[in-house]
Amino acid sequence: EKGGFDSFMDKEIHDQPHAVADTLLGRTDAAGRLVLDDLRIDESVLRAVNKIIVVACGTAAYSGHVAKYAIEHWCRIPVEVELAHEFRYRDPIVDERTLVVAVTQSGETMDTLMAVRHAREQGAKVVSIVNTHGSTIPRESDAVLYTHAGPEIAVASTKAFLAQITAAYLLGLYLAQLRGNKFPDEIAALLDDLRDMPRKIQTVIERGEYVRATARSMSSSDKVLFLGRHVGFPVALEGALKLKELAYIHAEGFAAGELKHGPIALIDEGQPVFVVVPSPRGRDSLHSKVVSNIQEIRARGARTLVIAEDGDDEVRDYADEVFWIPKAPTLLQPLLAVVPLQIFAMALATAKGLDVDQPRNLAKSVTVE
Ligand code: BG6
Repeated sequence: EKGGFDSFMDKEIHDQPHAVADTLLGRTDAAGRLVLDDLRIDESVLRAVNKIIVVACGTAAYSGHVAKYAIEHWCRIPVEVELAHEFRYRDPIVDERTLVVAVTQSGETMDTLMAVRHAREQGAKVVSIVNTHGSTIPRESDAVLYTHAGPEIAVASTKAFLAQITAAYLLGLYLAQLRGNKFPDEIAALLDDLRDMPRKIQTVIERGEYVRATARSMSSSDKVLFLGRHVGFPVALEGALKLKELAYIHAEGFAAGELKHGPIALIDEGQPVFVVVPSPRGRDSLHSKVVSNIQEIRARGARTLVIAEDGDDEVRDYADEVFWIPKAPTLLQPLLAVVPLQIFAMALATAKGLDVDQPRNLAKSVTVE
């Protein structure tokens, strides 16, 4: 049932192009307009939404961070992302015009379920983004947007994460369409970009051997840092989480802009640092800022492991290793940039002789608070 792979995790990483493609399938009508069938909330209610709060735990919460950048940019609705267990107990400001988006692979995470219940008691509408049909959270939500990643067996999430990000993009585009934030042809173009992503994810997976070899050479690392900016920031957080979960290495993700405000003190000779580089075609000179960050840490001895877009010649001079990913629109880049980090964590854990499907102390679904 591992389909010839050494682990479920390896199989599920390879399933990712399908997980994204299947999540996109059947979402448009004959006229090319987005239709989200499982979204049973009155359109007038969705038009009136003035705040979105994403609640989730672990990897699912990082998909919410990516969603924040996309939904705010496309829909001009403020989006907060909160760990479900923190949301529930801080007396959050939630009312009838708040849309709460609960993201969960299992649909059974108790912390997330309690957040859903609390939000609905306060009058909010809840949309859940869920992978497991027949689970509890979609039953208790006002609407559900299913991810079609298929069953995820490995404890650490991979394909469900990519499918969650994809579903969040769909929700954002749907809201933009409904509320008139975007012209139909703009939405159609973004959907075309999205439909192109499975092929590009496949390319990243096919380039995985170089990542694996790098990971094998680093199996004695005891601390690894991850930097990213904009949508690269949640990718950095997820890369660090994967390494903690699978390889039991102390790993931490930072917003690259924070570097000089603290984390740069951690850099010494040989310190491995992954850096997720934004597209050089993106706006706001983010690319050059992150390239400067790479220079700064390298000058202090860091070993720089850089994830960069094909053709980004500028990073080459400052990177010890470059993991190339295909060109993609900035907001969609997380679907590609996280894949080398997943492969890295898996390969490093394997090199340490660890069970990547069943890491110690972790459960696939935590059904207690
Ligand atoms: C953790 C899992 O216990 O729960 C993570 O180990 C997962 O992989 C998190 O991201 C949230 O789970 P779910 O099912 O709500 O997405």
